[in-house]
Amino acid sequence: MSHAQQHVLASAIVLALIVVFCIHVFLFPMYTSNPPARLIKISTYEQALCRTTLKNIRIPPEWRNPCPKYGIVSAVQGGRLGNQIWEYASVWATARRTGLEPFMPRCILKTLEEYFVNLSIPPLSYIGRCYLDVSQVVNSLGQWNSTEQNIIIPRHAAYWSLILVWLDDVRREFTFKPNLRAYAENVLREVAEEFELPEPTFVSVHVRRTDYVDYLWQKLKVRPAPVNYYITAMDYFIGKYRNVVFVVTSDNIVWCKYNLHSKRHRIKFVSDMDGRGPGKDLAVLSACNHSIIDYGTYGSFGAILAAGETVVYNVTTYFSTLIAEVLPNWRIMS
Ligand SMILES: *[C@@H]1O[C@H](CO)[C@@H](O)[C@H](O)[C@H]1NC(C)=O
Ligand SMILES: *[C@@H]1O[C@H](CO)[C@@H](O)[C@H](O)[C@H]1NC(C)=O
Ligand SMILES: *[C@@H]1O[C@H](CO)[C@@H](O)[C@H](O)[C@H]1NC(C)=O
Ligand SMILES: *[C@@H]1O[C@H](CO)[C@@H](O)[C@H](O)[C@H]1NC(C)=O
Repeated sequence: MSHAQQHVLASAIVLALIVVFCIHVFLFPMYTSNPPARLIKISTYEQALCRTTLKNIRIPPEWRNPCPKYGIVSAVQGGRLGNQIWEYASVWATARRTGLEPFMPRCILKTLEEYFVNLSIPPLSYIGRCYLDVSQVVNSLGQWNSTEQNIIIPRHAAYWSLILVWLDDVRREFTFKPNLRAYAENVLREVAEEFELPEPTFVSVHVRRTDYVDYLWQKLKVRPAPVNYYITAMDYFIGKYRNVVFVVTSDNIVWCKYNLHSKRHRIKFVSDMDGRGPGKDLAVLSACNHSIIDYGTYGSFGAILAAGETVVYNVTTYFSTLIAEVLPNWRIMS
């Protein structure tokens, strides 16, 4: 080897070492650097996900579970019953898709357990003594890229496209308490008797008013569904099914009684005057054969549980309308 060749070889080796060094020092960290772990005790974290102050509980011995090996799925409490049902369902579906273990903050479970039995997701308190790394938290499946990461679903979220994949299982997950089922059956039996219908087709009408009217305007610059929408939707059902009776529920039943009268339709208004009893109304919605809803998490979920034909009000790109674009037995009307 000539002197010149030795020189080239030496230079090449030095250059190669420099490249390897640079890759290790500058490039690898871009892929491997983890933010420093910020651990928080899960019992503390659970409280942070809740609006209300949780009572201290004595953890029963059977809850001394092994800490999760990977990330978990949970949600932030937001909204009322309708929202919290979707938050729960979003956690359920996200866990199913990812294989991560789901846990719910106790406050959401408390809301739901008033109405449903045998919910499968355990409370976060179940692993309350374990630690969660808050530097490894993402909000949705879209951001999730490692099993170390926890998916904490934001308040008011409804990951409907994920949920629609397992509709039958979701319906089974939300089993009403026996007293609510009995209440709904009773309401429908009385309605059938009142109109003397031997084989009635029950079509629920859910009318969302009160705070939602403002919300629609503030958020979407959309006016509430006009009376004519509900009447058109009712006409659709009497044109298609026999012995149809409409069962109206609402957070403002007085508005409904005043506005939704029609000589052509059999209509029964069932909600309490004060808009309380959301579980009772939801049980009635889910016991009906078909559904008319306008918008909102509560009505949409009632229609999902009823599993019949559903008419929704056309609010462009709104989630109830998007669901209707996916499900074959849902249709959009204006
Ligand atoms: C809830 O689960 C318990 C125990 O598995 C079972 O006995 C009961 O029938 C279930 N209740 C309902 C309403 O499905
Ligand atoms: C994985 O997700 C985290 C958190 O969203 C993000 O910071 C990171 O860039 C992602 N990594 C890759 C390779 O996509
Ligand atoms: C309609 O709903 C009622 C009450 O839930 C039920 O008893 C009946 O079987 C349903 N009818 C049809 C055709 O599904
Ligand atoms: C819903 O409204 C949008 C915008 O006004 C319109 O383009 C669309 O055709 C409507 N869809 C139905 C099914 O009425």
